[in-house]
Amino acid sequence: MIFDTHSHYDDEQFDEDREELLNSMQTHGVEAVTNIGSSLAASRRTIGLTEQYPFVYGAIGVHPNEVGELEEDGIAWLKEMCALPKIVAVGEIGLDYYWDEPGHDIQKKWFERQLELAREVKLPVVIHSRDAAKDTLDMMKALHAEKIGGVIHCFSYTKEMAREYLNMGFYLGIGGVVTFKNAKKLKEVVEYMPMEQMVLETDCPYLSPVPNRGKRNSSLNLPYVVEEVARIKGISEDEVIEITNRNAKTMYRL
Ligand code: NI
Repeated sequence: MIFDTHSHYDDEQFDEDREELLNSMQTHGVEAVTNIGSSLAASRRTIGLTEQYPFVYGAIGVHPNEVGELEEDGIAWLKEMCALPKIVAVGEIGLDYYWDEPGHDIQKKWFERQLELAREVKLPVVIHSRDAAKDTLDMMKALHAEKIGGVIHCFSYTKEMAREYLNMGFYLGIGGVVTFKNAKKLKEVVEYMPMEQMVLETDCPYLSPVPNRGKRNSSLNLPYVVEEVARIKGISEDEVIEITNRNAKTMYRL
């Protein structure tokens, strides 16, 4: 069954039908999902979802565009919550230079601090990196992130960059973008990378695959991603589901 390694079911876009939608997952072939925190408030909501649904796991952390709110007491709270049994990763953390706020130095400071947090609590990391390929890789190498492990979520860089992360033992998160006609670079990465380091993700409510591009996304759309990965790799859809499910459980240590 499908494992969605990156979702945001705490988002207000799910307020109308969250319970109904989540309760329909398992009958539609979705075994488990990891809800990802993007701020302290979203991390708190993530913990709530893990307590309410047996098949929902959680990652907690603060997204690079939200670190303006962070202070050391926020890190202390995250550290305490990382001890909860269903919190399986620190994230999403990283660098995002698409937006100018907060400044690069502030983003780097809290990226480093949250990488260290993951090391302290012995959990893998969920990395968000956008328009910041070189700085993200430089920091992760300098801080020996290969000893922490985890996933580069919504991987959007080149094959050469993919090789760097794969060599560090990281998984690459593949989602709806791979179905887009103009996603040549990502299709090349999927063709190149070993299945053993791929995990599936939605990033829902964002990034719906074709044919639902532009609409609200959910884990129920992952079969379209599976179909495209199977086509590129020349393997069956069942194999894609089985291997990525096993990878997700290895990565999140379930
Ligand atoms: Ni996300």
